[in-house]
Amino acid sequence: MRPSASKNRRLSKSSDLQGRRVTIYDADDIVRMAEVGRKAAIILDEITPHVVVGVSTAELDRIIDGMMRDLGGVPATLGYKGYPASSCISINHVVNHGIPSERKRLANGDILNIDVTILIDGWHGDSSRMYLCGDKVPSKSRKLVDITYEAMMAGIAAVGPGQPMNAIGRAVETIVRSNRMSVVEDFVGHGVGNVFHDAPMVYHHYVASDTLTMEPGMIFTIEPMINAGKKDVKVLSDGWTAVTRDRSHSAQFEHSVVVTEAGCDILTLSPKGYTRPPYPV
Ligand code: MF3
Ligand code: CO
Ligand code: CO
Repeated sequence: MRPSASKNRRLSKSSDLQGRRVTIYDADDIVRMAEVGRKAAIILDEITPHVVVGVSTAELDRIIDGMMRDLGGVPATLGYKGYPASSCISINHVVNHGIPSERKRLANGDILNIDVTILIDGWHGDSSRMYLCGDKVPSKSRKLVDITYEAMMAGIAAVGPGQPMNAIGRAVETIVRSNRMSVVEDFVGHGVGNVFHDAPMVYHHYVASDTLTMEPGMIFTIEPMINAGKKDVKVLSDGWTAVTRDRSHSAQFEHSVVVTEAGCDILTLSPKGYTRPPYPV
């Protein structure tokens, strides 16, 4: 790495609720994060035609793993805290961290989240989207997906220099509550860059005490998990798969964003212009 690559990197003045200061990335770092963010988005674009009735989630994971390596990267999740796969694929009532499996085949009407983190030269590109399988997705599930996307984008719109971190959760929660859905509180967004999961924690519900001030050069994810029913989740005995306790469906989208002087830039925008499903065929 060029010696200049980190010369202007520093730490935020204030700390997050855990007492951690936040890395302020410099312009060279942000270029690298934009490159890996774009590659994460390319993978989410290119997996789209493979999301069909009958495909196993293990097969989708193999395709994703191959795309990551073709793009010059590796899956950050593989072996991370013992996680056994190159992506997380979470179907219907699975909230997040669904482990791809040969036995899990997509059915007509399923909604699913595919979450990828590509690691290149130490930089992490982290993003996820929802997909609809087949032509029989119930309108209630489609509504959940739409509201979740809207909630993520409202959270992103709350990002800007001088803003408190809790503006994100406030914006997300406002939309979700007005649609009588619920925000999962057990999982959060996170600082991302040369560390996969870093400060600050990014709450998707309103936390009054979280007044950490956003500064240009902070990079973090916004990745709300929204349940059609109650907010409560539990983790299955595999130690990863989180599901809704009431078996209601859950949806999630994730972008990585950088705070700028003007507001923020999304680092994981789709080159194909895909936002929320249905995606053009
Ligand atoms: N990509 C997930 C996130 O958005 C993290 C997955 S960690 C794993 O933060 F170990 F479950 F893969
Ligand atoms: Co993330
Ligand atoms: Co992710």
